[in-house]
Amino acid sequence: MVKICCIGAGYVGGPTMAVIALKCPEIEVVVVDIAAPRINAWNSDHLPIYEPGLDDVVKQCRGKNLFFSTDVEKHVAEADIVFVSVNTPTKTQGLGAGKAADLTYWESAARMIADVSKSDKIVVEKSTVPVKTAEAIERILTHNRKGINFTILSNPEFLAEGTAIADLFKPDRVLIGGRETPEGQKAIHSLKSVYAHWVPEDRILCTNLWSAELSKLAANAFLAQRISSVNAMSALCEATGADVSQVSHSIGTDSRIGPKFLNASVGFGGSCFQKDILNLVYICECNGLPEVANYWKQVIKVNDYQKMRFVNRVVSSMFNTVSGKKIAVLGFAFKKDTGDTRETPAIDVCKGLLGDKAKLSIYDPQVTEDQIMRDLAMKKFDWDHPAHLQPLSPTSNKQVSVVWDAYEAIKDAHGICVMTEWDEFKNLDYQKVYDSMQKPAFIFDGRNVVDVNKLREIGFIVYSIGKPLDSWLKDMPAVA
Ligand code: NAD
Ligand code: UDX
Repeated sequence: MVKICCIGAGYVGGPTMAVIALKCPEIEVVVVDIAAPRINAWNSDHLPIYEPGLDDVVKQCRGKNLFFSTDVEKHVAEADIVFVSVNTPTKTQGLGAGKAADLTYWESAARMIADVSKSDKIVVEKSTVPVKTAEAIERILTHNRKGINFTILSNPEFLAEGTAIADLFKPDRVLIGGRETPEGQKAIHSLKSVYAHWVPEDRILCTNLWSAELSKLAANAFLAQRISSVNAMSALCEATGADVSQVSHSIGTDSRIGPKFLNASVGFGGSCFQKDILNLVYICECNGLPEVANYWKQVIKVNDYQKMRFVNRVVSSMFNTVSGKKIAVLGFAFKKDTGDTRETPAIDVCKGLLGDKAKLSIYDPQVTEDQIMRDLAMKKFDWDHPAHLQPLSPTSNKQVSVVWDAYEAIKDAHGICVMTEWDEFKNLDYQKVYDSMQKPAFIFDGRNVVDVNKLREIGFIVYSIGKPLDSWLKDMPAVA
């Protein structure tokens, strides 16, 4: 029996290994993590992450060929294939802080693999890492242990949160990079045979190590670039009376452009896009390519601009101040169908509104009050270091309340900000919503989920990203 061990039971390690276990009943899969609460949750009825379809997959294999454990060293030692799926956040201190990937967790995992291994192993980079990381990892592994062969593969993960299980069941492609040596090719073949249990052969792409590592950063940069491009267009649409949804549809029908990932929004969030582009920027700078670095940096600058533009729009529309006004924030997760709030645009928008002394009432169906308060207290780039958290200041604490019902959040509010495209926000009883609010009642839709015409008929003043402005907003001062 082939034994797989995955180091890191997070958003990638957990779902990916659960699907491998489901599709390969003859393989034993153990997911290990140093965080005991996370492992306990994986072994309970309340999994540590919310992901549609995940509970079902885990229930089918847990205890049969899928196990979650904190006994990291034992299971690494016993495995034939070790996936490393630890976090690789942006560095917050030292050389490259704010841009470079922090490989501390990866390096300590590699050193531990070298220390505890007693047999040959394939070590798979599942985490997103800077190009050439495999070379450094190879050095750590081969220097620490003589006589044991470690073969490194790069197998970046392309799943998106909220659709992780569907993405894993039917991936556009699986990418495996390895050395162009006989050992490297043999290892590629072994990993390919795992995925071949359910992924058609022509969707399993094999490349050299550096192409696989760089393809992951490139894919995320290209995806994020589309969003920043359409968001840049949304600003121009508002200035000219064009409708960004119509523009997206029109350009998306060109088969060379394609229709996906052209939804204008308050900005992209999530743990990957910003981190991976910053990482790409840093790599370009280190390789003496400042023009290339600046090109990709612009994708993040436009994203920051979009979030700031949204805050300015809210404040300027509401008579240039939201001080003391109640604003209902609908949604806090970075996208629907996940409870993940890493880099969610809601954080920057809420902080912007708090800066203008608004009172926020926040509702998200999957995000807890603790998480929201922690996020609002964090300095930028600090999400991965909870130990360094500063408490929310007493003033801002009084300014924020978190509730478990959209209508409660909205009651007596002066304005609503839609931050996440949860389906339930499309189906609220907007007449009831309107009746319960202060007048004039404003709604600022950061996800283009509401029916603008219907809401205007009810009496709302509606702002929807990239849509023609209603006359009220046109009369307000221009937004920077
Ligand atoms: P995560 O923070 O949810 O999970 C990482 C886990 O690794 C944590 O539970 C942590 O405790 C554990 N860990 C860290 N060091 C460890 C060690 N030495 N031994 C054992 N466990 C250790 O992160 P994630 O979202 O799953 O991302 C993991 C990697 O995958 C990152 O490189 C990320 O960029 C990449 N990725 C993420 C996504 C996504 O949608 N989240 C998608 C594709 C790729
Ligand atoms: C992304 C990549 O899609 C995935 O392939 C990679 O493995 C990890 O990073 P994820 O961040 O989970 O996945 O979600 P994604 O669907 O890409 O959305 C990222 C952000 O962009 C979200 O905030 C989303 O709301 C936003 N978005 C997405 C838009 O604003 N407009 C769009 O058209 C699409």
